[in-house]
Parts: sequence; structure tokens; C-alpha cells
Amino acid sequence: MLPEPPPVRTSIACRPEIARLPPYNAGLGTEAVKSRYGVASVVKLGSNENPYGPPPSVGAALAGLMERVALYPEADLKLRHMLAAELDEPEGRIVLGNGSEQIIRMIPEAYVSPGDRVVTVVPSFGLHILDAEAMGGVVETVPVTEDCEFDLPAMIAAVSKPIRMLIFANPSNPVGCMMGETDLRALIEACPENCLIVVDEAYREYAEIDAGYPEARAILRAQNRPWIVLRTFSKAYGLAGLRIGYAVTSSEEIARTLGLVRDPFNTNIAAQLAAIGALQGLEHVRDTVAQTACEREVMRERLEGFGLHVAPSLGNFLFFRTAIPSGELAERLLCHGVIVKPWKEAGYTDWTRVSIGLPAENARFLAVLSNVLESAATRETLEA
Ligand SMILES: Cc1ncc(COP(=O)(O)O)c(C=O)c1O
Repeated sequence: MLPEPPPVRTSIACRPEIARLPPYNAGLGTEAVKSRYGVASVVKLGSNENPYGPPPSVGAALAGLMERVALYPEADLKLRHMLAAELDEPEGRIVLGNGSEQIIRMIPEAYVSPGDRVVTVVPSFGLHILDAEAMGGVVETVPVTEDCEFDLPAMIAAVSKPIRMLIFANPSNPVGCMMGETDLRALIEACPENCLIVVDEAYREYAEIDAGYPEARAILRAQNRPWIVLRTFSKAYGLAGLRIGYAVTSSEEIARTLGLVRDPFNTNIAAQLAAIGALQGLEHVRDTVAQTACEREVMRERLEGFGLHVAPSLGNFLFFRTAIPSGELAERLLCHGVIVKPWKEAGYTDWTRVSIGLPAENARFLAVLSNVLESAATRETLEA
């Protein structure tokens, strides 16, 4: 008999900042739900994707892909050139990311040191908190008001102390609320001069159809604090599967600094070509945004008709509160093949975010939700 091999050391302590992090909750995908719940079809309303897909111009842009896949992607010059023209910004201030979430990680990697104060809102897009905490940042979260709006006085109070970075999404995810021009200006003016201001505009295309949605870059340009505005091709442009987003920065110096923590070939050639194609299909983007906004208001009326509190939203999603915990609600919806996002942040565990899908998907979600809420109410009556 062979001697027993020596025990293998399989464990090594990671940095304490990482050990403390909760895992990011990306939710279940369609195939996982089919096999785990035994359902034949799934309605995926958990990730705020564009159910109408990207513009047809993306297909044409990807036609030459096979000829290029054997080579590393060339410098992302063409896409940055197009974005610069579209945004009227110098190319040297634009940074591409493997999804904007990669840039959300690069920012604290470059700018947040252990102990630095970072301010954001709650409920929030989880990575705004996790990525700053991973670098040892001390994140202070400012809750939205009872009416689910940004709490401007509380945010101003939070940024009026020494602070390294302010980061929040406008419109917010998951709430959907929007900060208008006057409030945004007041918040920025309250930040210390050396505070990095990051405005995440992942849902900008949905919000900008509202006349009150501010032009954050113009407001930021008119003052002296450093800033970054984040955008993505994952939402209105329908390219979530290809992973591409970008940052506009207040200076080439910030773009160069982000370049130091950027993986050299961070955006792949398919994503670059598709994004170029998407920029040529803006009419499709505008049409699908308009349809989604219409559907969102139909969905809001129905949810309010169920007696639910629904937050104001300019995004492609709605955030609503139920009497049953959102984890339990999500589980019951999954049994019928409907994926939503139950909120897990403390204080919001009875809130759920649902993305606006195609009309038939929204109808299926509403029908299943109505049954689930009814049977929960019946159970409560019987138990009373
Ligand atoms: C507010 C916000 N920012 C950034 C992202 C990340 O988007 P991307 O797919 O570009 O990484 C999301 C995705 O849901 C989001 O909601």
C-alpha cells in the first residue's frame, strides 16, 4: 500500500477587507431556473436588460468578427473616437470597461485607500459599496426618504465632512428616483474640493425622456471638483451579454490613472464592434426606451391596483413593497418561472425590483404575482 500523501494546505487567509465582503447577488439565470424549478419557460425580469435587444445595426457590425477573433483587440481607438464625437468630449477623457461595473471597481482601486470615507445612498447598486469596501474604504450610506426620493439634506450633511468619494446612480437603481438639476448642483457644491464625484448614469437613456433629468456632465464641468460619469451599453443599447461600458472623466490625468489599473485588453473585439454598431442604431434605442417607459407606467398602475407601494421610477424597472418578505415572494415567483430581484439590504428586505419586459412577460409576471399575493392574504386570514 502506498503511504498516505501529506495533507495539502488548501486554505489561505485573504485580506481582511475581502473576508468581510458579502457575495454579490447576481440572481439565477434562465437555465438554472428551468432545471431547479422544473418549469418549461422563464420570464427574466431580474437584471434590467433590454427585452427588445440591440439595434439591428449591431448584427451588421459583428459580421466581420470571425476574421478578427484570433488577434488581441486593437487599441479601442475607433469606439472611443465615436464616443468622443457623440458626447463632444476629448477622446483622452474616455475610458472603456468590461461593463461599467469594471470601471466601478477600477475607481476605488485607483483612488480609495484604507480608512477613506465614501458616501453613497441606500438602497443602492451593490458594487458602489462592495468595491469601495474591498479597498478598505469606509462607506456611509444615506437612505432615501419615505417617499423613495433622494434625501438631499441628509446627502449634503454626509458629504459636508471630509470625504474621498461620492458615488451614486442617477436615476437610482433599485429605486428609480431621479435627482434634478438644482439638487445635483447643490449636492456637488456641498462636496469638499478634493472629493471625487462619481455619477453612474447606467439608466440615463430611460431617464432623459423626462425634461427634468439633468445634464450631469455640464453641471460637473462648470465646477472644479474631480468627477467621473459612468455609462453602459448593457441597458438601453441591449448589449448586456457582451460587457461594455465607459467612463467620461473630468481630466486626462484621471483617465490615465484609471488606465494604470485597467487590464490591458479589457474590452474584447466583439464588444467593441457591437458598441460601434449600437451607436449607429440610436433610433431603435429611442423606440425601445419609449416602449419600455409606456409599459412601466402600465405595470405601475397594476401594481398600485394590488395595493402595493411602488417607488417613482425613471428606469426600466419598478421597486415595490409587499407584506411578505421579498425573498419569500421571489421564491414563489420562481416556482412559476418568473425571475425578479428581491432586495437584501437591511431595511429593504420587503422590497422587490422587477424589470420591465415585453408586454407578454409583464402580463405573466402580474398574473403570477396576483395569485401569490392573494394566497398570502388568504393564509394570513386563516392564521388570524
Ligand atoms: C446602476 C448600475 N451601474 C452599473 C451597472 C453595471 O452595468 P454593466 O453591465 O455595464 O457592468 C448596473 C447594472 O445593473 C447598474 O444598475
